[in-house]
Amino acid sequence: QSNMLTLADGNQMPQEGFGLYKVDDQETMNNAVRAAYEDGYRLFDTAQLYGNEAEVGQAFKDLNISRENIFVTTKVSEANQGYQSAIDSVKESLKKLQMDYVDLLLVHWPIQRAFFDTWRAFEELKKEGLAKSIGVSNFQIIHLQYLATKANEMPVVNQVELHPRLTQKPLLKYNEEHHIVTQAWSPLGRGAVLNIPELETIAEKHGKSTAQIILRWHLQNGVSFIPKSVHPERIQQNADIYDFSLSPEEMKTIDGLNQYARTGREPELTYEYNHQY
Ligand code: A2P
Repeated sequence: QSNMLTLADGNQMPQEGFGLYKVDDQETMNNAVRAAYEDGYRLFDTAQLYGNEAEVGQAFKDLNISRENIFVTTKVSEANQGYQSAIDSVKESLKKLQMDYVDLLLVHWPIQRAFFDTWRAFEELKKEGLAKSIGVSNFQIIHLQYLATKANEMPVVNQVELHPRLTQKPLLKYNEEHHIVTQAWSPLGRGAVLNIPELETIAEKHGKSTAQIILRWHLQNGVSFIPKSVHPERIQQNADIYDFSLSPEEMKTIDGLNQYARTGREPELTYEYNHQY
């Protein structure tokens, strides 16, 4: 159902995925994963930090979903950055997930200096086949430039906060120019951008919800996006965005809603980076 994107390493990734942040107990997990899988989601996004990798892995077992039918992302948390700790933590994640590999492994946050060692571990994990693709999360342009000075291969995905109140145009342009797929976390601004009047007007015109309008905007921008919900009707709604399209004017209206407003943390821009660049 979701479009497939081809990553710079040649692997394919569904453009739309399912976010598992704050989906915790096994029953809620199973219900959410079941609903999402039935509605056609194939990408499932977790992280060490979410503390739910074991529940994610168990859900696929309980629901009899075969490994080759899904695309699984996890992220190495700040606490596990560094060469050996990253490797050990990924092996631990795989155990919890009951999997031999993840499809996409991300550095969760840019931590100065540490991400060079973490990245070396990622290149190694990819060689060993424990991660099919490797990328980063919450990296700003300066972090990517810094990483490029030492990396043997560059990230193929950069997952960042992205929604109509934080459109990140310069970063999107940089990612695109460097063959890095941008992936939106909190594509719906954690639900906080759903009542914007301009979006309600567009939604009414198309007979869709504002959530569907926002996801369609992500789709037409060519970025990957991973909405989260624990409600089956919303999970379904968020996958039902392939039967209409936004006009260039409507896209522009949504682009114009940017307020540089983050719902989450600001990625660090330390003296060290500023000094280097
Ligand atoms: P819930 O899980 O209770 O459905 P994001 O993906 O940007 O982080 O946003 C997720 C938030 O938005 C969650 O709080 C989720 O709540 C809510 N949400 C997800 N999809 C929809 C939808 N279609 N309509 C309204 N709220 C939604």
